[in-house]
Amino acid sequence: MIVVFLGPPGAGKGTQCKLLVDRYKLQHLSSGDILRRERKEGTELAKRAQSFMDSGALVPDDLIVEMMSREIKQIGDGGVVLDGFPRTLGQAQELDKALARVGKRVDVVLDLQVDDGKLEERVTGRRSCTKCGAAYHTTFNPPKQSEQCDAGCGALSQRPDDTAEVVRNRIKTYHEQTSALVEYYERQGNVAHLDGNVDIEGVSRRLGELIDACVMEAK
Ligand code: AP5
Repeated sequence: MIVVFLGPPGAGKGTQCKLLVDRYKLQHLSSGDILRRERKEGTELAKRAQSFMDSGALVPDDLIVEMMSREIKQIGDGGVVLDGFPRTLGQAQELDKALARVGKRVDVVLDLQVDDGKLEERVTGRRSCTKCGAAYHTTFNPPKQSEQCDAGCGALSQRPDDTAEVVRNRIKTYHEQTSALVEYYERQGNVAHLDGNVDIEGVSRRLGELIDACVMEAK
């Protein structure tokens, strides 16, 4: 099963992908995580992407498509959830072509909807552990001890693009360049809308019901 997860910054895509990985054994491909990994490794692609990421703009399509095409070629039979890709019409069309080349198609598009007013607080409060990867939120999913990883790894960190100013730009970018993809996929008839305004468990419950229904339908 190929799942595309759409939603504005801070909607909870990464948080909910954990459920899809744990329960449905889908591989998680996050374009943002791959870009941050490239950045850590100091690759040429990351150097070209850096200023766009830091300002909350989209990285140009040619760089992203080249990077994600490499990953898509390696998708196994177990299926994948694409988180943060595609983000433009051009990327969506390239994804369709890349999947067609390996005899696959997008099976379901999850449109995670959250009111703009909630997004800034979610993003600026996000913390993560660079050692074990655990994710937290200062208010909605706090660590036991402030700013410290529960697993004893030490201090938590904050993404450099999670400042209020950059988040506002990322939200604007989403509305200007990405939200139109919902319509693109609606024309393909495979969009499921999901209310992301409720708490993490509530979203997970509804997401589980949606995916269970897709799995049943595919049988
Ligand atoms: P990327 O890393 O993809 O960031 P994003 O899309 O802005 O998404 P986020 O990771 O901020 O949000 P999320 O929905 O995953 O939220 P999360 O679950 O963590 O992209 C970063 C940059 O890379 C882009 O700006 C761009 O420059 C570049 N880029 C990446 N892909 C690209 C592409 N395809 N094309 C061009 N450029 C690209 O949740 C956030 C917080 O909220 C957490 O702390 C969590 O605990 C909390 N939370 C989650 N759900 C809930 C809930 N229901 N209630 C309360 N709190 C919640």
